Parts: sequence; C-alpha cells; structure tokens
Amino acid sequence: MQTVLIIGATGNIGASAIHAALRSKLHVLAIVRNQASAEKLFRNVGTREGITTVEADIMSDRGVEDVVEKVRKGELPAFQHVYAAAGGMFDTTSILDLTTEELRKHMRVNFEPNVFAYQATIPYLLEQGDPTSTWTLCTGASGDNGSRAAASMTQGALYSMANVACLDNADTNVRFNEIYLGLFVMAGAGADQFGPGVMKASEFAIVYEKILASPDIRGCRVMVCQREDLTELRFRKKVDVV
Ligand SMILES: NC(=O)c1ccc[n+]([C@@H]2O[C@H](COP(=O)([O-])OP(=O)(O)OC[C@H]3O[C@@H](n4cnc5c(N)ncnc54)[C@H](OP(=O)(O)O)[C@@H]3O)[C@@H](O)[C@H]2O)c1
Repeated sequence: MQTVLIIGATGNIGASAIHAALRSKLHVLAIVRNQASAEKLFRNVGTREGITTVEADIMSDRGVEDVVEKVRKGELPAFQHVYAAAGGMFDTTSILDLTTEELRKHMRVNFEPNVFAYQATIPYLLEQGDPTSTWTLCTGASGDNGSRAAASMTQGALYSMANVACLDNADTNVRFNEIYLGLFVMAGAGADQFGPGVMKASEFAIVYEKILASPDIRGCRVMVCQREDLTELRFRKKVDVV
C-alpha cells in the first residue's frame, strides 16, 4: 500500500487530503505539531484508521527533514506522495498598516513550511524513483484577487514556488501539481454551520483523488473556483518546459 505524507494535515485542506488518500486506498503519514493537533485531525476526518501521526515542527527547516530521516531508518512508513497545505493565516490588515512582524509571520506560516517540506521530501522521492510519485501544493486565489494583503502576497510566493517545482520536476519521477483554490473549504462539524457558501473538506477531497488517479495531470495548476470544478477538473500546464 502506498503512503501520502501530509504537511498541514491538521488543517482544513489537510483534512481534505486525508479523506482523498483514504478513499484512494492510500495510507496517511500526517505531521502534527503535538498530541492536541493530532486529536483535532482525528475529529476532522472522523477516523484514526489508516493514519500514522508523527510530531514535528514544520516551521523549522529541520522539521520535515527529521521525519524523512525516520522514514529512511524504517521507523515510519515509506511514502510515495506528498501533499502540502501548511498555512492558514489570513488577517485583514491593509498593506499600509501591516507591521514588519505581521508581514514576516505571514511569510513564516503560509509560505516557508511548504518550501521546507519540498526541500526535505523531493530528494527522498527522487532516490526512491517510484514512477507514480506525486507532490501536490494547495494555493489560494487570494494571491490574484488581492483580498487580504499579507495572505495574498504569501499565495503569490506559493504560485512561484509551484512554477519552479513544475519546471524542476518536468523530467523526474515526481508528478508535481498545484491546486488553486478559489472557494472556502472547511473541515469538521463547523462546516455545516456555514451553509452552501462553504465547501466541506470531504467534498473538496475529490479533487486530490482525481489528481492521484490521473497521470496526465502533471506540471499543472488545477483550478477549483466553483462547485462545477469538482465534476470536471479544470487544469492547464503551469509553465512551458523548453
Ligand atoms: N481553507 C481554505 O478555504 C483555503 C482556500 C484557499 C487556499 N488555502 C490554502 O491552504 C492553506 C491552509 O489552509 P487551511 O484552511 O487548511 O488552514 P488551517 O486550517 O489553519 O491549517 C493550517 C495548517 O498549518 C499548521 N500550522 C499553522 N501555523 C503553524 C505553526 N505556527 N506551527 C505549526 N503548524 C502550523 C496547522 O497546524 P495546527 O492545526 O497545529 O494549528 C495546520 O495543520 C492556506 O494557507 C492556503 O495556502 C486554503
């Protein structure tokens, strides 16, 4: 059985990745910050079955690296897929009122852990050479619509990270894709309170399920901006590979 390593596993998008992995008959290796986060994860997805949790500090450039070391030593399950959705900061402060500290915190939370996760896991996936490996990054449309200053700018940085990763993995065994999300996705019981304006993590999961099952989706941005996008995935190449 293959395994998906999930960064940001305890969040809304992480929950959707777990639903998708389990429905795709994959095992989940979920990075959590502590036991309380792990319990939130289990509540979010409604099961503990098929999920291994490991504590690590994803904010540190050593955090995911240490997890990969444990995988190499056989202390944790080997993984073939990675899903990164660390972040979740979307304060409303305008760009003019943004303090240096707030700006750096948004970059530190929304952007850096995804880069650290990439740096820690891609060498491992390349070494393993599994031809079915995938790496998936979730970004938000706020980077284009500019709705929340600091959060928007972090998404712009993630778009660029995805461009680089698509290019760098064009000829590798790792199928890199970006999910570009223009809807509000929520995990757990809270999602029911918001009505149709909010998509449940379990519904959004179909997007990752389809990506996992579609070898033709490679080096692409998969756009999810309306409910219809769940039925027929909209995707296009992120960059031209020359
Ligand atoms: N949800 C959406 O509708 C949506 C829409 C568009 C794009 N996105 C993209 O998805 C990303 C995640 O969104 P989300 O809604 O899933 O966020 P979330 O529910 O707040 O989850 C964020 C994840 O990052 C972890 N995290 C945050 N700060 C941390 C810290 N200081 N140390 C360790 N871990 C930390 C959280 O761990 P803990 O659980 O331990 O706090 C959690 O696993 C966004 O930043 C954005 O790029 C989401």
